[in-house]
Amino acid sequence: MSFELVVVGGGNMGSALAEGLVRAQWCAPEDLAIVESSLEQRAELTTRLPGVSVLASLELEHVGPATGAVLCVKPNHAEAATRLLAIVGVRRVLSVVAGFPTVRIEAIFPEPTAVIRSMPNTPVLVGKGVSAIAGGSQVTKDDLDWAESILGAVGTVVRVTETNIDVVSGLSGAMPAYLYMVVEALIEAGVHQGLTRDVSRQLVIGTFEGSAALLAQSDKSPEELRSQVTSPGGVTAAGLRVLESRALRAAFLDAVAAAGERSRQLGR
Ligand SMILES: NC(=O)c1ccc[n+]([C@@H]2O[C@H](COP(=O)([O-])OP(=O)(O)OC[C@H]3O[C@@H](n4cnc5c(N)ncnc54)[C@H](OP(=O)(O)O)[C@@H]3O)[C@@H](O)[C@H]2O)c1
Repeated sequence: MSFELVVVGGGNMGSALAEGLVRAQWCAPEDLAIVESSLEQRAELTTRLPGVSVLASLELEHVGPATGAVLCVKPNHAEAATRLLAIVGVRRVLSVVAGFPTVRIEAIFPEPTAVIRSMPNTPVLVGKGVSAIAGGSQVTKDDLDWAESILGAVGTVVRVTETNIDVVSGLSGAMPAYLYMVVEALIEAGVHQGLTRDVSRQLVIGTFEGSAALLAQSDKSPEELRSQVTSPGGVTAAGLRVLESRALRAAFLDAVAAAGERSRQLGR
C-alpha cells in the first residue's frame, strides 16, 4: 500500500508535523505514514497518532508516483535517510533539516527531484510555528504550494530564496531562545526588586503572552504599541532609557548576524 505522505523521523519536529497534518485534515490518517527508527518512539507515536501507519523503515511498496516525503531527522542522519528516499523512488521532498542545502539533497537522487528546504521553529510543537521555505532547482509553483500546505498545518509559512535560509535560521529559527532569555532575565529582575519568584514568573509570562496576542491582533506597529505605553518622562520611559543606553538594539543586530553566519558555516 502506498501513502500520500511519509514523514521520516518521528522526533520533536516529525511528530508535531504529523499531528498537525491529522488535525488539519491535510489527508486521511491512513494516507499518512511516519518512519521512525527508535522502537520506544514508535510505541509512543502509535498511541499519539491513531490511524497513522508508524513504520520501522520505508519499503518500495509504501511509495507510489504521488508519494511525497518530509525529512525530519537530525542533520547527521539526513544523508542516509535521503538515500533511502531515493532508493524507494520518492520524487518530492520537503526537508526541515538545518544546514542541508537542496543541492546536496538533489545530488543523492538519480533523477530530477523536487526538493524544498525549510526552516521552521519550535512553536511548531504547539501548532504556532513560523517556517520559511525555499525551492531547489527542480521545483515548480505546485511543489512550493504543497510544501506550504504541509507546514501551514503547524503555523504560518513565508517564502524566501535559499540564500536567505541562513538569515532565517539566525532570526526566527533562533528567536524562541532570544525571547526565552529576555523572559528569564525579566523574571530575575522582578526577584531582585523583591517579588517572589512565583509572582514574578506569573507577571512576566502573562505579560509576554498578552503582549504577543495584542501585537498579533492589533493593526498598530510594534513602535506604535510601544509608544502607547511610554508616557513622556514616565515609568516605562525610564526603563527604556536604560535599555537604549545599553545598546539592546545593536545587541540584537549582532546576535542575528552571528547566528546567520554560524548557520552558513555549518552548511559548508
Ligand atoms: N527542533 C527545532 O527547533 C528545529 C528547528 C528547525 C529545524 N529543525 C530540524 O528538524 C530536524 C529534526 O529535529 P528534531 O528535534 O525533531 O530531532 P529528533 O527529536 O532527534 O527526531 C529525529 C528522529 O528521527 C529518528 N531517525 C533517525 N534516523 C532515522 C531514519 N533514517 N529513519 C527514520 N527515523 C530516523 C531518530 O531516532 P534516533 O533517536 O533513534 O536516532 C529520532 O527519533 C533536525 O534536522 C533539525 O535541524 C529543528
